[in-house]
Amino acid sequence: MNIKRKETIPQVLSSRWEQGSELHWFSSWRSSNSSMPWGKHHCLFGNGRHALKALIDFGQTTRNWRRLWIPSYFCQTVVSSLLSTGIEICTYIDSPGYYEPNFDNLEFKKGDILFLVNYFGLRDKFFVDDTHRNLIEIVEDHTHDPWSDWAYTSSADWCVVSLRKTLPVPDGAVLWSPVGHQLPSTVGITSAHKVAVMEKFTAMVIKGLYLNNYSVMKEAFRNLAISGEEKFDNQGMISGASELTMNILPTFPVKIWRERRYLNHQTLSTVLAKLPWVEILQPKSNKLSVCPFGASLIFDSPERQLRVRSLLISSNVYPSILWPLDQPRTEGIPPENIDFSQRMLFLHCDMRYDKSDMEYISNLIHRFGEQSKIS
Ligand SMILES: Cc1ncc(COP(=O)(O)O)c(C=O)c1O
Repeated sequence: MNIKRKETIPQVLSSRWEQGSELHWFSSWRSSNSSMPWGKHHCLFGNGRHALKALIDFGQTTRNWRRLWIPSYFCQTVVSSLLSTGIEICTYIDSPGYYEPNFDNLEFKKGDILFLVNYFGLRDKFFVDDTHRNLIEIVEDHTHDPWSDWAYTSSADWCVVSLRKTLPVPDGAVLWSPVGHQLPSTVGITSAHKVAVMEKFTAMVIKGLYLNNYSVMKEAFRNLAISGEEKFDNQGMISGASELTMNILPTFPVKIWRERRYLNHQTLSTVLAKLPWVEILQPKSNKLSVCPFGASLIFDSPERQLRVRSLLISSNVYPSILWPLDQPRTEGIPPENIDFSQRMLFLHCDMRYDKSDMEYISNLIHRFGEQSKIS
């Protein structure tokens, strides 16, 4: 019998099918045999903010750090955490819409640190010119694509990766120095972090059960995930990573999962190519050296973004906004950044999904975007 296909049917044929939001708890029978960009000499912290705070405290006491330059377009929760270190924060103009920032008009001085971000895994390695490089120390954030060529060949002073954005772990971040600088001392896990991790981990496990049609309610994992995240946001003390993350981390088939992310991004980009009302940001290089974190969709207006987002949510597709800038923690965020953040939607392309899932959500976006014609 021929089955008529109206829209490609997602792989997970259950009433519990959903796309996006946080990772649930799963692993893979395929083991990892990949070397990691951080090598043996690295430290693990409770999350990305803990790793950055530990590094800044260390730099202020041992390397005379005075000012931290951060990109104008960045996650404001992380900015709050950086401000809590007491270091002076300056912003430089940057955006995921550019492949690299421009530092020509900035006046760096000794004691400055430059924080560079591989936004949404779209960038390739770029060099800061020698006049600046000789004055400053560089910290790179490779959270959105920890296995890029840039991360493997980095010449930054330190690099950081928050692990839970690309891997199914409840916590954890890696800090390393590609040029062999000393690292801050590692710390044990704090009791506050243990509680937060337990909530996040339980939420991940229950979400996995929910997706597999067990009789658990969505609220059960949603409430725990939110509560765990709030505990992460409110932790004063720097913590080490959980035993759980430390033990499971070396077992993940990261290369295979990354390749899936790359292909899923391509599928979505192909279906939505050439639509006049949306642009999908593309990686700097079309080889696997650069792998997008997900699909960053930039709509022609905030109204269309809002409408498509709400229709997607009512179809169980949960995109993110990376990042809301309506309550900036620093001055100097240009209007272009705010406009960009109001028109962007981030669609997950990770290893949870295959080609048919991506075609299905691309067709939804196409349909909802067309329906949202602004009169
Ligand atoms: C690029 C980037 N770096 C660092 C962080 C901080 O990571 P964590 O939430 O693990 O503290 C985030 C979190 O959103 C992020 O997106």
